[in-house]
Amino acid sequence: MAAEHRSGDGPRRGFASDNAATIHPEVLDAIASVNLGHAFGYGHDSYTHEVERRFEQAFGPGSRAFFVFNGTGANVLCLRATCRPWEAAICSEWAHLNTDEGGAPEAIAGVKLLPAASVDGRLTAAAVAAMLGREGDEHAVQPRVLSLTQSTELGTVYTLDELLELAALAHARGMLVHIDGARLANACAALGLSLREGSFDAGADLVSFGGTKNGLLAGEAVVVRDPALAQALPYLRKQSLQLASKMRFLAAQFDALLRDQLWLRSAAHANAMAARLAAAVGPLEGVRITRPVQANGVFAIIPATVRAALQERFDFYIWDEATGEVRWMCSWDTEPEDVDAFAEAVAECLQVCT
Ligand SMILES: Cc1ncc(COP(=O)(O)O)c(C=O)c1O
Repeated sequence: MAAEHRSGDGPRRGFASDNAATIHPEVLDAIASVNLGHAFGYGHDSYTHEVERRFEQAFGPGSRAFFVFNGTGANVLCLRATCRPWEAAICSEWAHLNTDEGGAPEAIAGVKLLPAASVDGRLTAAAVAAMLGREGDEHAVQPRVLSLTQSTELGTVYTLDELLELAALAHARGMLVHIDGARLANACAALGLSLREGSFDAGADLVSFGGTKNGLLAGEAVVVRDPALAQALPYLRKQSLQLASKMRFLAAQFDALLRDQLWLRSAAHANAMAARLAAAVGPLEGVRITRPVQANGVFAIIPATVRAALQERFDFYIWDEATGEVRWMCSWDTEPEDVDAFAEAVAECLQVCT
């Protein structure tokens, strides 16, 4: 799919992250297409309004999208919109909110996180239920939002039934459901669901919808359906330093993403590349794939010497220093040839180093 966008023998592509990837040319074209004349700032322009309508088509009637600069901002905004000072968010122990947002949920939203045990990044109803039980006790924070990352930080995907079960549990206990959808596109592509089916129809109340990891220059969207949440979000977005003055250039990127289902084409491609990588390296002696490969990431344990030799040739992260588990992420612009070259390098390094 991305063949026409290859950079030839130029800069190489690795497997560090989907935000290490390039900007999709359709996104760059969309930015250029609104780079004409003047337009009111802060989203009060016709381009942004049109993209907001596109979001309503994609996420269902009544959906309102609020564009922000980054995923941490989107998540923090969702927490600020839902939790009062004594309320808390339940999330998985591996949630980006919990591990990689520098304490922003606590510092900026003033929200305590209640990290629960997960299975390969997915919360179970039992694990969530175990976090409940002190409702009405003034000595305990009161869980108000259940935050689910879809697809998860460990490359797994909640099934629709799992989402529905967790959302039913949360709603029955008076909680709202937030989806950290930095990679919602990958999850929906994997499940064969539309964005609406994979979010609001699956029980979500608020969604942080990712763009940056799926070919945007920069941009995420907080999407809500409840008018009360929508009413508060413009004020919270401004207070949270996430209101872009030149909004049309954020909005234009989402226009490209939602138009002609670029979100799906790009995410499905990234997922397919991860499946190809897992199929190529999984059978090699010395490679143990550690998590089900369900979206665009492959997690594995390989000997430390092999890892070091590989990292001289390709970028990727060690996910867990304690176990030596590594993470190999595929992106919209990962080519089959990139995957094959990497898999060959893994095989070579295994021969030479072990
Ligand atoms: C699951 C998840 N949520 C949110 C984010 C967004 O983070 P950022 O603030 O870097 O855009 C990321 C990025 O790594 C992520 O993996």
